Amino acid sequence: MPHRFDALTAEHMRAGGSWKWSTPGESHGRGLIGAFVAEMDYPVADAVADAVRASADGSRFGYLPDGWVADMAAACSAFWGDRFGWAPDPAWVRPVPDVLTAFTATVRHFTRPGSAILLPTPAYMPFLTVPAMLGRELVQVPMARSGERFVLDLDAIDRGFAGGAGLLVLTTPHNPTGRVFDASELAAVAEVVERHGARVFSDEIHAPLTFGDARHRPYVTTSGAAPGHTITATSASKAWNLPGLKAGQVVLSNAADAAHWTATGYLAEHGTATPGVLASTAAYRDARGWLDEVLAYLEGNRAHLAAADLPGIDVTVPDGTYLAWLDARGLGLAEPPSAFFTREAGVVMTDGAACGEAGRGGMRLNLAVSHPVLTDALDRIRSAIRSM
Ligand SMILES: Cc1ncc(COP(=O)(O)O)c(C=O)c1O
Repeated sequence: MPHRFDALTAEHMRAGGSWKWSTPGESHGRGLIGAFVAEMDYPVADAVADAVRASADGSRFGYLPDGWVADMAAACSAFWGDRFGWAPDPAWVRPVPDVLTAFTATVRHFTRPGSAILLPTPAYMPFLTVPAMLGRELVQVPMARSGERFVLDLDAIDRGFAGGAGLLVLTTPHNPTGRVFDASELAAVAEVVERHGARVFSDEIHAPLTFGDARHRPYVTTSGAAPGHTITATSASKAWNLPGLKAGQVVLSNAADAAHWTATGYLAEHGTATPGVLASTAAYRDARGWLDEVLAYLEGNRAHLAAADLPGIDVTVPDGTYLAWLDARGLGLAEPPSAFFTREAGVVMTDGAACGEAGRGGMRLNLAVSHPVLTDALDRIRSAIRSM
């Protein structure tokens, strides 16, 4: 039985006009397949669409009332409690337009002025560029490998803090490697951070997107010390595919930080979109079935990638997120691999160099397409390699 998402052909997606599918150009007479920016091709959940329609029908485009913030906080907390075993105090779940705004507010208001920022790499691309925009030094900490897995290099993080850095940017599930860090790894991070009196920005935007036996563990639950030094950020925007609706959540985890957020968070909160808050509430509360359907469909795409024969490419199938890491250094290309595969395969991926020095020679492939589109993308990548 074909799944309804199987009908999402490349032609259908191009007609939709999304950024993901509107890269100009072609490859060997074929249209380009959009597999870079972290959006899903799947149509949004009915409950989310209904919430946006109800916003329009009810002219709910005014400033954000406290009651709708409270509803979103309660829905987010209940979802986290049910899925991850930790329900944050809804009073400490605050609205922001997006995770990047939460990050900039954290740097500005919760770190020592002028202190450097530690970033395990490869990393989500804006974390490489935004610190300089805030006048901060960025210290890249390449992740280590343990067998097939990417792991955090605790010694390098320790050295970074000893050198004066004040904040670690943690991302779990991790973009772009797909790692879902386990509780013991995260507890070990907390020990290092605490020893240096430093802080963590824990980006858990991909939390609901885990596969197989992997389970998201909120960083603050992994150590007694972590709630005291962490600002957590999340959003329904990845798991329910709503980034344009501009609503995310900051989760505070101690009274002093909550009070400091109340004093300093106004500008960060102010950009949050009212329809986005209503849609996020609907997602967390009423669209869990849609999420489960998407997770099951993505399981199929993961299996498809795992079975693909891509000579010269070391494929990391993600345990979390719908982003796969393809290490193409084995091909010995004289150009960035994403440039080669855009031109020769017509598959547009994120180049690893944009994810930091440690990502050079790699690519990030977005798996949240239909099965037929993924099959086509993998066939094209394989053919491009064979014709080298
Ligand atoms: C790890 C990670 N953090 C943050 C973001 C951006 O989130 P937002 O649009 O809420 O700023 C993304 C988007 O792909 C992401 O993958």
